[in-house]
Amino acid sequence: MTTPRLAVLGSINVDHIMNISQFPKPGETIIGHQYKIAFGGKGANQAVACGRSGADITFIACVGDDAIGSEIISQLKTDNIHIDAISIIPQTPTGVAMILVNEQGENVISIIAGANGALTPRHLEQYHHVIEHADALLMQLESPLDTVFEAAKLAKSHHTKVILNPAPAQPLSDEFLSFIDVITPNETEAEILTGISVHDEAGAAKAADILHHKGIKQVLITLGSRGVWFSEQGKGMIIPGFRVEAVDTIAAGDTFNGAFVTAILEGKPSVEAIRFAHAAAAIAVTRHGAQSSVPWRHEIESFLAERA
Ligand code: ATP
Ligand code: RIB
Repeated sequence: MTTPRLAVLGSINVDHIMNISQFPKPGETIIGHQYKIAFGGKGANQAVACGRSGADITFIACVGDDAIGSEIISQLKTDNIHIDAISIIPQTPTGVAMILVNEQGENVISIIAGANGALTPRHLEQYHHVIEHADALLMQLESPLDTVFEAAKLAKSHHTKVILNPAPAQPLSDEFLSFIDVITPNETEAEILTGISVHDEAGAAKAADILHHKGIKQVLITLGSRGVWFSEQGKGMIIPGFRVEAVDTIAAGDTFNGAFVTAILEGKPSVEAIRFAHAAAAIAVTRHGAQSSVPWRHEIESFLAERA
């Protein structure tokens, strides 16, 4: 039997992470106590989570023609990712994210697209075959929206399962949502997509129903430390996450998405795949940074065995 093929389309960023006691107010200067540069970007983080948790994954993405862009590509290769669909864009910097992390482990992020902006529908044409031959396509919203739309449409027409992590939050058209098989918003993203605030189970159920009516079969609303609201065919339930000492939630959602899709492609039932993804994300929040926090498969399996 051949291993199912996964395509991830998304962003690559250089994360500049500063730890501070509390977020500055407008006009205020805060002295940070730690700073580091790390590899991130929602697309790359999710691709790394897939690679480290055991998927056969090809990543469609762009870096700039700077030194760090080449370093990132080399690192992605060691994370079990096929890198042939990653392009180096001339005279363009690699994408950048400025991230502040407070004492509670919460973060605020602003990003500059850089080379990610070059992943246009025209650029994507040379990689259509990757999507057409994949069993699943995982995407986020840090790439140009028209490209994500075209990729979803192409995937749908080739029976490639489309999983969308709609982050960062933005409204999406009904036509776009009709191409999506599985959607994984957090509470804020679910509210922006549906207009329903997700503060309790009733809100989550209502938001999920709206997304089902737009044609999406499975809705997973991630609820941070509380876990996930999982809804299928109009029936929903909370699947709790694992209790851990969180130090930094950067890329928790990314790790969850990558591990979930990997497990689904292996044929695990949805609830089991969510538990696998919860374990991966729980490990990630106990570590600092984005890709530096993403666990390998043996770590996820040991964690699950300890918590069984
Ligand atoms: P982020 O933007 O911080 O990467 P997100 O907002 O996309 O995350 P969340 O809903 O915060 O996504 O978290 C995604 C998943 O990560 C959760 O469903 C859970 O599995 C795990 N997780 C997040 N925070 C915690 C925590 N404090 N303890 C344990 N697991 C957590
Ligand atoms: O989801 C976390 C990621 O969001 C960071 O790595 C940063 O690059 C931003 O894209």
